[in-house]
Amino acid sequence: MPPLSPSLQITEVGPRDGLQNEPCIVGLETKIRFVELLAASGLDSIEVTSFVSPKWVPQLADSEALLRGIKRKAGVRYSALVPNEQGLARALAVGVDAIAIFTAASEAFAKRNINATIAESVARFVPVVRDAKAAGVRVRGYVSCVIACPFDGKVAPRSVREVTRMLLDLGVDEIDLGDTIGVAIPSDITQLYEGIADTLSPGGSVLHLHDTNGQAIACATEAIALGVRKFDGSVAGLGGCPYAPGASGNVATERLVELAHRLGCSTGVGLAELHEAGRFICSAIGRASPA
Ligand code: HMG
Ligand code: MG
Repeated sequence: MPPLSPSLQITEVGPRDGLQNEPCIVGLETKIRFVELLAASGLDSIEVTSFVSPKWVPQLADSEALLRGIKRKAGVRYSALVPNEQGLARALAVGVDAIAIFTAASEAFAKRNINATIAESVARFVPVVRDAKAAGVRVRGYVSCVIACPFDGKVAPRSVREVTRMLLDLGVDEIDLGDTIGVAIPSDITQLYEGIADTLSPGGSVLHLHDTNGQAIACATEAIALGVRKFDGSVAGLGGCPYAPGASGNVATERLVELAHRLGCSTGVGLAELHEAGRFICSAIGRASPA
């Protein structure tokens, strides 16, 4: 195991990945308070919402109002998902700090999620990345279905490598690898990073785990041993993708923070404050709070 770096970076995706998958539409004031509580816990990177089509994801149709409504905390990066130029224009108009473009290592999922082939999606991202960078906005590139696809089954690391290469060639600042349906076991994580080693190192990636099979923390532990230092989490384990049948919540941010602290890595996140944010959103959406 490589020597542990003193810090693990966590991006909180609950307001986006969590709330996009809730059957109810959460009110604007609740979302604003939720994001502010997350920032108060010490999280310094928060994926707040998506500038996607409101017909596709009505839960996040209030993205402009949300970004305008949050009292921003200095040092926190507030980011949002952007699928195309229309989304970028909306995101820039309300001053996002970073955007995330998103495609997949599986054709079937790309088609269902963004109504495009992988190649079409990458072509669509060319002006998005160019204009975001010209505006001084950081760009994350998500690759979904890095382990398996809900429609096509197992995904080979070479497919992940090809899409990763395309996104790096566009000039994205970081690659985020998503186990969208949460089916990875630790050996899948090892095989994934071995299979893409000539294109992306563990330390240069972000890992986005969902926890359908209850293996997300075991996978994160394996990833840390391989050198991964950046993760996404969703407080209280909220999350899922409306276009990925069977996908359940993301790995809970609380569990990631506990894991990091047990391994002697700092996160800058206060667990008590994080739990408060979790209790707040669970009560707002009528879910039982995790311990
Ligand atoms: P489309 O229907 O092919 O788009 O959708 P279009 O370009 O043909 O436009 C159709 C209509 O949508 C038009 O409006 C456009 O104006 C509008 P109309 O003329 O019919 O009234 N439209 C927009 N409106 C607002 N903002 C926009 C926008 N773009 C078009 N940006 C599109 C293509 C990509 C837009 C659609 O498929 C979409 O919005 N998909 C998003 C799906 C999504 O958000 N999925 C969940 C996020 S991904 C995820 O969860 C995975 C992740 O967590 C990582 C992991 O777990 O692996 C990130
Ligand atoms: Mg996700």
